[in-house]
Amino acid sequence: MTQDTKNKLTDIVSKLMHPHKGILAADESNSSANKRFENFNIPQTEESRRKYRQTLFTAPNMEQYVSGVILYDETIRQMSDDGLLFRDILQDKDVLVGIKVDQGLVPFLSNSPEKNTQGLSGLNERLVEYKKMGATFTKWRSVFLIGKTTPSQALIKKNCEDLVAYARTVQKNEMVPILEPEILIEGSHDIEQSKHVMEKVFDILVAELHKASDVYQGGIILKTSMVIAGKDAKVQSSHDMVARHTVHVLRKKIPPQVGGVVFLSGGQSPDYALHNLDAIAKMGPHPWPVTFSFSRAIQQPALDVWGSSEGKDVEGTQKVFLERLSLNSLARQGRLEHHNGKINRNHVISLRIFFWITVLLFFIFVLILK
Ligand code: G3H
Repeated sequence: MTQDTKNKLTDIVSKLMHPHKGILAADESNSSANKRFENFNIPQTEESRRKYRQTLFTAPNMEQYVSGVILYDETIRQMSDDGLLFRDILQDKDVLVGIKVDQGLVPFLSNSPEKNTQGLSGLNERLVEYKKMGATFTKWRSVFLIGKTTPSQALIKKNCEDLVAYARTVQKNEMVPILEPEILIEGSHDIEQSKHVMEKVFDILVAELHKASDVYQGGIILKTSMVIAGKDAKVQSSHDMVARHTVHVLRKKIPPQVGGVVFLSGGQSPDYALHNLDAIAKMGPHPWPVTFSFSRAIQQPALDVWGSSEGKDVEGTQKVFLERLSLNSLARQGRLEHHNGKINRNHVISLRIFFWITVLLFFIFVLILK
């Protein structure tokens, strides 16, 4: 790879990893977007998806918090009511246009719940077209289910080889690949199991990356899950625990030359993901810039307003969307307690605990002196 290409990739990475911003994942497939609309009885049509995404992309000043948006094939071709292409609206705001380029999940082996990601065939042709449309970065998601016998070694190997093959093709087109090996939240595994699986996946992914001398690690972004207990686990992890485990795994396994690390929310509630991100950022500085690339944890509160108003409350939806983005921007900097100049709830709780412990110690001290 030429130095010029490396410089171009590094430049895109550093724009995406802007110190106050994050990446909005708006690349839900049509069926995922429809499923989310279903809860509100919103018609599951291309027009609904267009109207909803128009509401997000035209939110005033969203570019204060968003460095890039990942789009879906349908969305990168869509226009606003005024006839402006969404991709142009974003570029005019200096928001980078990204595109999901994998083509979804297919069963890996028969009689196994595991899934492999398809989309390598024809990838180069699709990239050429997306690049002409202005896309500068891309995303490929593979998934790992934690179970008694999963993820299997064979699936980890296959998914990691595919992620690296994808990264190579994307960089050849002078675009930045986001590699997303998602450890699924489904299941009752504890945080230690989640950590163990993530380490295994990263070991193989990094070994594949090291083998690929033509993949420039400074020009890739890793999109990762946080290390958390499964959603059906009896004990859920505190923010502090999530942050400590996540930072430990990333620092141990991910080479410092990787361009950036971004987090998916993967079914965490918006507040849980927000506070986990803040706790992770507070443990920095890290060897790579770190930020959010949430879909549900940013969009859910906005979708609740949009869906329950049958798509009519555009202003209310945008207000909630911007609020969530501004919170995540603070969390990305480890400054959540500075929200609106006020001290946040967690901070208030710690101050209260500190106060009452001091009072208690004072009384114990007085009793001892007597
Ligand atoms: O592939 C998944 C998205 O890019 C992130 O979505 O934050 O809802 O997990 P999520």
